[in-house]
Amino acid sequence: MATGARIAVLRERASGETRVSATPETVRKLIGLGAQLAVESGAGLSASIADADYLAAGAEVGPAEQVLAGADIVFGIQGPDPALLGPVRPGAWIVAGLDPFGQRVRIEGYAAAGLEALAMEFMPRITRAQSMDILSSQSNLAGYKAVLVAANLYGRAFPMMMTAAGTVSAAKAFVMGVGVAGLQAIATARRLGAQVSATDVRSATKEQILSLGAKPIFVENVAGIEGEGSGGYATEMSEEYQRAQAELVSSHLAKQDIVITTALIPGRAAPRLISDAQIAAMKPGSVIFDLAAPQGGNVEGCVADEVVERHGVRIVGYSNTPALLPADASALFARNLFNFLSAFWDKDQGRPVLDEEIGNAIRLTQGGKVVHERLLA
Ligand code: NAI
Repeated sequence: MATGARIAVLRERASGETRVSATPETVRKLIGLGAQLAVESGAGLSASIADADYLAAGAEVGPAEQVLAGADIVFGIQGPDPALLGPVRPGAWIVAGLDPFGQRVRIEGYAAAGLEALAMEFMPRITRAQSMDILSSQSNLAGYKAVLVAANLYGRAFPMMMTAAGTVSAAKAFVMGVGVAGLQAIATARRLGAQVSATDVRSATKEQILSLGAKPIFVENVAGIEGEGSGGYATEMSEEYQRAQAELVSSHLAKQDIVITTALIPGRAAPRLISDAQIAAMKPGSVIFDLAAPQGGNVEGCVADEVVERHGVRIVGYSNTPALLPADASALFARNLFNFLSAFWDKDQGRPVLDEEIGNAIRLTQGGKVVHERLLA
């Protein structure tokens, strides 16, 4: 049997990044497939995983130079700096969340180095790829954590409480954008006892909102997106729709205590859903968590990685919310990467071999060039 592919797991270098792309569990499973695993010292520390845990799972542990030497595949949460990757094999795969639109220079760097960069966020939304989908696994945790962070900043309680000293009324929470993060935000806010409402441009989400016990707030006079939209994603809405949405949402927003925004359109800046004037009409002490902050934000005045106050309303703009749950976020991300490699593992070659559908969807660079159609357009 051929010697299995060597997979290098790097310590993440981006500021605020706490996750790691392999866990002892996935190291064991990858070794079970026939791979060799090499983990950079300290890679798991911020996710509460010690070097000894990786060693016990069968990985080699050492400095970056050593683990990268002869690597066929490099795992990352975010894309590693191409300058680090000198010691890898020619044509090695970089398997990570590569932020293809935000990190163009880095992607060019992978191409120039002859590497094959695979952007896990481009995984197609097809049933067989669901277990490989980093956007879903991380958004789910982000939706949960956003509600907890907002609850912490909020100077009141979420549930209605009847006490001897009087009644505390339930918080009103509004979720804008009901994809994976939004659904989890609704469920979390409901569990904490808030009165929850939600909106989306995709009419299919109405049923989902109702099934979680929340109230749908929908534009009725202008058509939204029927079905699941293109591959499950929203597109930019007409000006007429945007006006109708702003009107509908304005009066509703003014009554809310907690707002979680998650609206994204792939490959574009996040749509602006809340203006400064709308914030001014909200109650002081309210909290908005803008989960779209890394893509430019749904909320006017939101500042990446900061909590700012506008008109007495606090706006949270963390750019890496999954990193606030390092252990779970790493465990799910690492399983996404394992599920991906194992689905394509070729036992005879001792390495994964991609099929056309998924290969073409996620491959950014090959043979010294950027090859992905969305980056060439
Ligand atoms: P996303 O992160 O791209 O966007 C979040 C939400 O914002 C979406 O529901 C979108 O419709 C909404 N949105 C966009 N513009 C808006 C606006 N102007 N106003 C209000 N809302 C707006 O979406 P996410 O979370 O990635 O999921 C989208 C869909 O894909 C879901 O239906 C999900 O179930 C599906 N999906 C399918 C998968 C598969 O089959 N493998 C995997 C993951 C998700």
